[in-house]
Amino acid sequence: MDKIVVKGGNTLSGEVKISSAKNSVLPIIAASLLSSDKCIINNAPMLEDVFVISDVLRSVSADIDIDNTRNKIVIDTSSICDCEPCGELVRKLRASFLIMGPMISRYGKFKISLPGGCNIGTRPIDLHLKGFNALGADISVGHGYVEAKAKKLVGNNIYLDFPSVGATENIMMAAVMAEGETTIENCAEEPEIVDLSNFLNSMGANIIGAGSDTIRIIGVKELKGTNHIPIYDRIEAGTFMIAAAITKSRFKINGVNEQHLKPIIAKLTEMGVEIKVHGESMIVDGTGDLIPIDIKTMPYPGFPTDMQAQMMGLLCSIKGTSVITETIFENRFMHAVEMKRMGANIKIDGRSAVVEGVKRLTGCQVKSTDLRAGAALVLCGLVADGVTEVTDVYHIDRGYVNIEEKLKNLGANIYRVCG
Ligand code: EPZ
Repeated sequence: MDKIVVKGGNTLSGEVKISSAKNSVLPIIAASLLSSDKCIINNAPMLEDVFVISDVLRSVSADIDIDNTRNKIVIDTSSICDCEPCGELVRKLRASFLIMGPMISRYGKFKISLPGGCNIGTRPIDLHLKGFNALGADISVGHGYVEAKAKKLVGNNIYLDFPSVGATENIMMAAVMAEGETTIENCAEEPEIVDLSNFLNSMGANIIGAGSDTIRIIGVKELKGTNHIPIYDRIEAGTFMIAAAITKSRFKINGVNEQHLKPIIAKLTEMGVEIKVHGESMIVDGTGDLIPIDIKTMPYPGFPTDMQAQMMGLLCSIKGTSVITETIFENRFMHAVEMKRMGANIKIDGRSAVVEGVKRLTGCQVKSTDLRAGAALVLCGLVADGVTEVTDVYHIDRGYVNIEEKLKNLGANIYRVCG
């Protein structure tokens, strides 16, 4: 398995280009199942997760062409079947479950392996199933599978107990060609929900309110193919913003949406990082003295859980005490164990972590436990004394395009050992 080797101490400078959002492209690829016309995704991020969900669609006979020289994906679902997708792939990538809504809409029935949990939590799907049921699908779960059958999907009012991103996306996709009107209340408001809504509306759907806590969907007869450019990846951008802060550097980040980054900009500014946005670029200046702050992860527009590990890495190296509260996932502090191997001072108490900044982190071998934890450990390696080896890099490759290349181009002493 590959590992990333970082020698700490370099300051960074220059510019970095952010890729399109993984968490936008995955539901958008699933949504292409709603039409038998071709869908084209331009400027697509060439990521492991994108390749896996493409293989899931291929396992139901979709034809997907991924041109990684032009970052272009062409999806043709004219010849798909309502057969069961490859269970091994579905269990490998939780986001594969997002094909359930489109396939129920297209065939009125669908059977799929239950998605696995993962390191950060059990990742239940009860809210997805509640939505499908409200639209008229009979759901059965057993023997590791979930099956849905619906003579016809009929619009309904659905209240989500928790603003689940995936449930909001899956229900939206199931509802776009249901008869009548659907409202999803207490839904997720993430920018990736808006991007999916824009993609579906460009196919001929009629969705109003994405980005707010209530989405209205007026069912239409059919959807056409479309051509789409996804939004930038706000989590990758946030990760590089923290790279500037942790290495006390100043550099330019191209490919940002200020609105999507508001919670991250607010918290880093509170710490003393200087951030100036000009259009779709920003200058991040972490050269000043930074102060510790408290962080609480919340659904958008709160501070994103996908930035929690990276922020913990930064707070480990800032003098003073910080408290991090993780409200979204029940087991998303595994990176703390690895950071403590580097000399960090972190005390975990349930959903809270108390971080005492230390003078120096020290390089050593550490293990990525999920994709954001892996990225956070690379960030810690940038500032640690000596050499840090981050193993299980396949986690990082799920969500970051060439992270070590991008950091090397900014001046980091970093390389990948393929193994
Ligand atoms: C999406 O996961 C993202 N993944 C995650 O990003 C992100 O961390 C998460 O949203 C929260 O923002 C993709 O978009 C592919 P949720 P998702 O449903 O949809 C509970 C990354 O690092 N819940 O909003 O699975 C669940 O247990 C990944 O890029 C239910 O209780 O997240 C969790 O506590 C990691 N029942 C909370 O909601 C359900 O039916 C958030 O889950 C569904 C979810």
